[in-house]
Amino acid sequence: MNNDRNPIVIPKPAIEIKNISKTFGKTRALDSVSLSIRENELFGLLGPNGAGKTTLLRILSTLIPADPSNQADLGPRQGQILGFDLFKERDRIREILGYVPQRDALYGDLSAMDNLIFFSQPYPMDKRDRRERLESLLNRVGLYHRKNDLVKDFSGGLLKRLSIICALVHRPKVLFLDEVTVGLDTPLRREIWNLIKEWKREGTILVTTHYIPDAQNNCDRVALIYEGRILDCGRPQEIIARFPPATNLEEVALICQNG
Ligand SMILES: Nc1ncnc2c1ncn2[C@@H]1O[C@H](COP(=O)(O)OP(=O)(O)OP(=O)(O)O)[C@@H](O)[C@H]1O
Ligand SMILES: [Mg+2]
Repeated sequence: MNNDRNPIVIPKPAIEIKNISKTFGKTRALDSVSLSIRENELFGLLGPNGAGKTTLLRILSTLIPADPSNQADLGPRQGQILGFDLFKERDRIREILGYVPQRDALYGDLSAMDNLIFFSQPYPMDKRDRRERLESLLNRVGLYHRKNDLVKDFSGGLLKRLSIICALVHRPKVLFLDEVTVGLDTPLRREIWNLIKEWKREGTILVTTHYIPDAQNNCDRVALIYEGRILDCGRPQEIIARFPPATNLEEVALICQNG
C-alpha cells in the first residue's frame, strides 16, 4: 500500500540515452537510439554483424563522439551515466566505467600480473593496495596461480577472464562487455556468464553478444538492434510474447529482421 509516508520510489536509470546517432561517411551506424538501463541490471544488446553494437558502446565509453543532433533524429540527443552528462563530463564517466573491448587489448609479452599493473597505472593507489587489489582480482577468476605466466600462452577462456579483470581494477560502477564470449565453447561461455552475473551485485552491466540464447538465459532485459535501430526492448519473455509464433529471442530477431 502506498501513502505519503511510504512513497513509491522510482529509481533513476543508471544509463539513459535519447536520440543517439552516428554516421561514418555514408553509413548511418546508429539511428536515433534511445535506451534506459537500471542500476544493477544485466542488460544485453543483441544484433547481427554491423548492427551498431560496438559503435554504441564506444560512444557510451566516450571513446568516439556521437553525431550532433540533426533534423533526421527523433529529437535532441541526450545521455547520462549515473547522473554524469555523456557529452560534458567525459572524465567523470571514464572514472566510473569499465570497458572490455571486442578485441582483447592485452600485451602477450607481459605476464598476467604485469598486464594488470599496466591497466591500473592511470588510477592512483599506493603500491601495497594496488598489489592486494590485483591479487584479489586474479583470485576471483581463478588466475592467481598463472599470474607470472606470459599472456601469449593463455587460452581464449583465460584471456577473457584476464580482460574482464583488467577492466575492474578501479572498481567501476558500470561495466561494458563487448562480445566477451565470442569463440568460447559452451562450458567456457557459461563460466564467463557466471562471472558477469556475480559482478552484477557491484554495478550495472551492458553486454553485447551474438549468442542470443545465452542472452535470453542470462540477461535481465535486452534490446534488439538492427541496422542502427532499436527494434524492441524488454525482458526476454515479454519480447517473445509480443512476437507470436516466436518461442525464443532468436526467432523474434529473425521475424524483426525480415520486416
Ligand atoms: N570507424 C569506422 N569507420 C567506418 N565505418 C565504421 C566504423 N566503425 C563502424 N563502422 C560501420 O558502422 C556499422 C556498425 O558497426 P559496429 O562495429 O558498431 O557493428 P557491431 O554490431 O558491433 O558488429 P559486430 O557484431 O560485427 O561486432 C557497420 O556498418 C560498420 O562497418
Ligand atoms: Mg562489434
